[in-house]
Amino acid sequence: MTVLVTGASGHLGANLVRRLLDEGTRVRVLARPEAGNAALAGLDVETVWGDLRDLDATRAAVRGCPRVYHCAAKVSTGTGQVAEIHGCNVVGSRHLLRAALEAGVERVVVTGSFSAVGHVPGRPSDETDAVNPFERMLPYQRSKVAVEHACLTAVANGLDVVIATSCAIVGPHDYKPSPMGRVLLDFARGRLRAYIPGGFEFVAARDIVEGHRLAMDKGRTGHKYIFSSGHTSVDELMAYYEEITGRPRPRWRLSPPLMAALAEVTSFVTTRLRPDAPLRFTPGAVRLLRLGRRADTTKARTELGFTPTPLREAVREAYADFARRGLVPPR
Ligand SMILES: NC(=O)c1ccc[n+]([C@@H]2O[C@H](COP(=O)([O-])OP(=O)(O)OC[C@H]3O[C@@H](n4cnc5c(N)ncnc54)[C@H](OP(=O)(O)O)[C@@H]3O)[C@@H](O)[C@H]2O)c1
Repeated sequence: MTVLVTGASGHLGANLVRRLLDEGTRVRVLARPEAGNAALAGLDVETVWGDLRDLDATRAAVRGCPRVYHCAAKVSTGTGQVAEIHGCNVVGSRHLLRAALEAGVERVVVTGSFSAVGHVPGRPSDETDAVNPFERMLPYQRSKVAVEHACLTAVANGLDVVIATSCAIVGPHDYKPSPMGRVLLDFARGRLRAYIPGGFEFVAARDIVEGHRLAMDKGRTGHKYIFSSGHTSVDELMAYYEEITGRPRPRWRLSPPLMAALAEVTSFVTTRLRPDAPLRFTPGAVRLLRLGRRADTTKARTELGFTPTPLREAVREAYADFARRGLVPPR
């Protein structure tokens, strides 16, 4: 059986493809020729070149694959690139689900985002919490809510879809690199100047890969499962970074309101002068850290047998992989 993975050049996809290959699965990937595909170099995968926004290319990728992992998305904590976010995430997912229905795919696991789960102050969020559409939301968040809606529509039309909801991913094979990967690189190179208190739900790359495998094998059709390795405060994260990189944390532990104001100014200037430049701390990212949201993973644990692993190990693996590629000194 050949399994299709979209987003295989990305952080999650690169880890998932390696796990599937280790299990002896034949893997096909949908990849864009113009993108950086270093994550796929040397892997024994079949590549279909194309973009999810192209329905025919998506159909060609899906054809003959009974199982599909749809991990691709334009991930962003900024407020720009709205057309690209909508095209890649919403239109692209609709194409993928339509192609899967036409081709008689047995099951599609779609990667969801914790940012598309509702926030109820005072308790951890679970799969039943819907987002408040009147809250301030980033374009990426809105798009991931729309993707879930598209999944449920596809289920109503007869497709077997399960949503594997990811928190912020930490781990190896991060080639682009991800926002969390950039923070670790900056820290290791002594270029992270400041940080703020707060916290978030993080997931080890190995845990979110396991979550996707469990969702494929045991998930209930039309259901969503949240996968997290646990809530981690920024102070805890800084302690892991110090231990793993051998460098001290930044001297400046800024107050969240000050950091929020700085992020607003930096983001305003950067998005006008260099719209494609990656931002470390966008106002949206600062807001998420300040909220300190927590996830309830009871459903994934009890229904699927999900067992999260320590985040410190994921940071260690991420650092080791950057060192292997010569981006930071070996430890
Ligand atoms: N990273 C996180 O912390 C996080 C947190 C919650 C949820 N998630 C979800 O996890 C999934 C994977 O995220 P990630 O961190 O692996 O992202 P990533 O590293 O940015 O990779 C995104 C992948 O999607 C592909 N892609 C985007 N638009 C595409 C299009 N129009 N056609 C074909 N491929 C396209 C990219 O291909 P190119 O190489 O061609 O750009 C890349 O392979 C996403 O669904 C994301 O929403 C991620």
